[in-house]
Amino acid sequence: MRVVVGVGGGIAAYKSCSLIRSFTENGHHVRVIPTESALEFVGRATFEALSGNPVHTGVFTDVPEVPHVRLGQEADLVVVAPATADLLSRIAAGRADDLLTATLLTARCPVLLAPAMHTEMWEHPATVANVATLRSRGVTVVEPASGRLTGRDTGSGRLPEPAEIHALAMLLSERDDALPQDLTGRKIVVTAGGTREPLDPVRFLGNRSSGKQGYALARVAAQRGADVTLIAGYTSELADPAAVEVIHVKTAHNMHDAVRKYAPEADTVIMAAAVADFRPTTIAASKIKKGAHEPDSIQLVRNDDILAGLVDARRNGEIADSTVIVGFAAETGDENGDVLTYARTKLRRKGCDLLVVNAVGDGKAFEVDHNDGWLLGADGSESALGDGSKALLASRVLDAVVSVLTSAPSPLSDHG
Ligand code: CTP
Repeated sequence: MRVVVGVGGGIAAYKSCSLIRSFTENGHHVRVIPTESALEFVGRATFEALSGNPVHTGVFTDVPEVPHVRLGQEADLVVVAPATADLLSRIAAGRADDLLTATLLTARCPVLLAPAMHTEMWEHPATVANVATLRSRGVTVVEPASGRLTGRDTGSGRLPEPAEIHALAMLLSERDDALPQDLTGRKIVVTAGGTREPLDPVRFLGNRSSGKQGYALARVAAQRGADVTLIAGYTSELADPAAVEVIHVKTAHNMHDAVRKYAPEADTVIMAAAVADFRPTTIAASKIKKGAHEPDSIQLVRNDDILAGLVDARRNGEIADSTVIVGFAAETGDENGDVLTYARTKLRRKGCDLLVVNAVGDGKAFEVDHNDGWLLGADGSESALGDGSKALLASRVLDAVVSVLTSAPSPLSDHG
């Protein structure tokens, strides 16, 4: 794929180096187009070495090649990170006063802009209007992260981590379309990762969940405008997604309490976490020693089923009737039934509105970046989610959630 990486003149320009690297390492052909002021932060030589291509800022270099038209026309994806307030304003106004803005006017491929600026600039009505204009034209403008800005201040306006920008950019190219803002005003709770049930101060019963699918759901929902709370168990050290409130929990019991705290406010609850079904009956106060004898067997007691409990709570009126509840099922199938047979039974047993089904085993689903599966609806609908990145699957699950939320006749779109 031919990727143009535009770089605006802000301190976060240094993060664009990792982003460029992630594109080249994944085999893409990268052309970097910084603004003149971006070169105040990162040198031209760095961009040339990382991309393996010449780097220019103006339209009067290599004139016979007409680069200000050709680079945009030939691009399969344009990503601008960081996009400063000034750059957003110039792009929204349709200016073409340097190579980057000229390229953006000629590009017809998906375009992703990742803003980074101080909170006051991000919240200024001029910037808000520019972002709205750009989104209305089909440009994806990423919600910035909150956290430490240049200097001592903190707030919204931080550039998301390069890995996150990369994942969102690849999602755009997989969808071949902008990310819609169709979850604006919706509150979504997502659980992710695995719970750990302690045996003693150093040991636990856990599982292989990496949390990647749940994090992708939270990330994409936030970028589609939702107000997202992510209740995260243990993951493979995933960074908090931008613009998402993250609550870290340890045990199934902790996760249960957090879900029940946030669910009453939510329009949708997505249970992507791998919750331990059982916990040790007792937790030893000090480390269990091996001693001279064979070990005692571990007595287990059942944990509450958070998902089934939510469905009961909805039935009892403790949470709103309109709350959409989504479950996950990781199945292997066996001699008594295949993956989908087990999943259909699970959907009926749990009583949720949608069930995302993953076939697991043989390097599928766990710890990897790709996923595939099916989506089953309580109305009997079934569709294949198709193979793709976890971000793409997240986006397809969210398409179905949007359909249920807006009560379209069929909750599932056909992604077969
Ligand atoms: N789940 C839950 N609380 C539990 C266990 C599971 O909320 N104590 C949720 C998971 O987050 C997931 C769904 O239930 O959304 C299905 O999880 P799974 O482990 O596949 O279901 P189980 O009911 O444990 O079924 P199985 O007998 O196949 O283990």
